[in-house]
Amino acid sequence: MKYIYEEKGTPEGPTLLLLHGTGGTESDLLPLADIIDPNANVLSVRGNVLENAMPRFFRRLEEGVFDEEDLIKRTEELYEFLNEASEKEGFDRKQVTAIGYSNGANIAGSLLFHYKDSLQKAILHHPMVPRKGIDLPDLTGTDVFIAAGNNDPMCSPEEAEELQRLLTNAGATVDIHWESNGHQLTMSEVKAAASWYA
Ligand code: MLT
Repeated sequence: MKYIYEEKGTPEGPTLLLLHGTGGTESDLLPLADIIDPNANVLSVRGNVLENAMPRFFRRLEEGVFDEEDLIKRTEELYEFLNEASEKEGFDRKQVTAIGYSNGANIAGSLLFHYKDSLQKAILHHPMVPRKGIDLPDLTGTDVFIAAGNNDPMCSPEEAEELQRLLTNAGATVDIHWESNGHQLTMSEVKAAASWYA
């Protein structure tokens, strides 16, 4: 996968995994890393799928309807990429915090839904429930922050609450933060994520 790695901390310290929204690139969320933890290593990845020339992390059939087969395949691909990148770049695989927005939050959620110990923490900006009706791995010890919009037309408040419930039932500790700016990634939710992370 195409990525940027910045060794801003120590190999023993935390690493922030940045996952952009539809149409974004690995450069988009770099400013967020400085706000969340300026001393953490940064691994920012570009989604491997193109939708009308816009990078994404997995295919969708239409807006809000995921191609499940591709989602499963791309989640595995990202999971394996993380293992390989930690060997190559020398960061601690056990201390990865994902920061994802929209489609990037959805692939981060999918990592949590499919793999135990895929992420230590996850900051999910405007996520959806990646898959319905599956058993989640044991997520005890995983901390999740969800930033959701009470008027988000793409990721409804009910869906954000459903995601919180599913992750909590699997053992994760989940905090949810509400905004009223539709599907937008706002500075106030990034600041709320930074306080949560600290
Ligand atoms: C998705 O496809 O992951 C969601 O619809 C959010 C987005 O548009 O990226």
